[in-house]
Amino acid sequence: MSTTTSTSTDASNPLNVAEIRLDFPILQRSVASGKPLIYLDNAASTQRPRVVIDAMSDCYERYYANVHRGIHTLSEESTRAYEAARESVAEFLNAAAPQEVIFTAGTTAAINTVARAWGDSQITADDTLLLTLAEHHANIVPWQQLAERTGCRIVFLPLTSDGRIEDDVVADHLRRLRPKLFAFTAVSNVLGTEFPVSRWVEMARGFKTTVLVDAAQAAPHQAVDVQEWGADFVVFSGHKVCGPTGIGVLHGKEPILEAMPPFLGGGSMIRTVTTEGFVPAGLPMKFEAGTPPIAEAIGLAAAVRYLQRIGLENIRAHEKRLAQLALESLSTIDAVTTFGPAIEHRAGLVSFVIDGAHPHDLAHWLDRRGVAVRAGHHCAMPLHQHLGVPATCRASFYLYNTELEVERFGTAVADFCRKFAGRSRRPASSH
Ligand SMILES: Cc1ncc(COP(=O)(O)O)c(C=O)c1O
Repeated sequence: MSTTTSTSTDASNPLNVAEIRLDFPILQRSVASGKPLIYLDNAASTQRPRVVIDAMSDCYERYYANVHRGIHTLSEESTRAYEAARESVAEFLNAAAPQEVIFTAGTTAAINTVARAWGDSQITADDTLLLTLAEHHANIVPWQQLAERTGCRIVFLPLTSDGRIEDDVVADHLRRLRPKLFAFTAVSNVLGTEFPVSRWVEMARGFKTTVLVDAAQAAPHQAVDVQEWGADFVVFSGHKVCGPTGIGVLHGKEPILEAMPPFLGGGSMIRTVTTEGFVPAGLPMKFEAGTPPIAEAIGLAAAVRYLQRIGLENIRAHEKRLAQLALESLSTIDAVTTFGPAIEHRAGLVSFVIDGAHPHDLAHWLDRRGVAVRAGHHCAMPLHQHLGVPATCRASFYLYNTELEVERFGTAVADFCRKFAGRSRRPASSH
């Protein structure tokens, strides 16, 4: 497999993308009657390298059994691999201890766990929760449900016209509202904005505000160091980091996790049960009721080790370059409006609309040319209401995408616009 920068053929690009592509079997296939697949839907879900597929097959073929409960060989081997996976993820996040890593079904499940376990025990009608307008529904609806249960208030931080949030605005809201919780995404899945996590956590700490960081769009694309970030909770999904579906991570600082009551009840999460009641298990089992996603945890560990070998900062630099190319290419098409900040504040994705054409029509047109993008509200309806559009088209890049693919994507969008949205062109610029 391709793992080092030394094989790169392009001195300015730290990744050898041609070699990386060979690690991903699905990228060898064609679509739309023989067109090479150009997969630009990575913000929705990424593809899996052979090492992940093999790690999961190996588990099922050689040593799969339920974990933690069995005395037999397979159960012991599965348990060792499952707990080793936790250690790999802890290392990926630079967590202080493996028991701070709770395996969940994904980002959505992780946020719901915090909203139930922490929220129900800490939040009252007098409290305020602070979110941003850039949140995915996964980081809005669980808090709205908490507000329904408790009567608490939710306030959304406003965005600048280029999709950022000024530190002053954050500071002002923290000072005025003294929110009990500040929950925000590290990277917007629509605007691509990279928010300054460590700075905001530090600011929130001054007001004793608990912080949850949604790292669903950050963990795949940048080195996440939970100790450096300092947030109370950090969550992400396996399927966006080249890992399996059905698994994600809730990272919590040990004291806050210790203090939280369990959310789901059942097997594995108890120390003892009597007819009178139960005593919960310690961390991390307290939050892992029932049979966990065993092969998925093993696959996730293979995925994060793969990304670490390639280097998260190399991946980030590569994606930013592709996003810059896409922005440049789209800015030459008069009918296109892009959203989000300049490249220094942006991760590797670009959302845009075309005058007089629905994003779904463009996505369909691109699909017929082998290009997979996403069209819709991307589970961020409040953000789209703020942008004044019901839907956008989103191209999102990853380590295996090439400059040629971005060029072909740009050409196909331009062709679409020539046919359906006029011909005029304008000088390069983006917003
Ligand atoms: C920023 C953000 N948060 C949360 C989620 C939800 O992730 P999942 O569906 O894996 O739970 C997504 C998925 O697109 C996302 O982009």
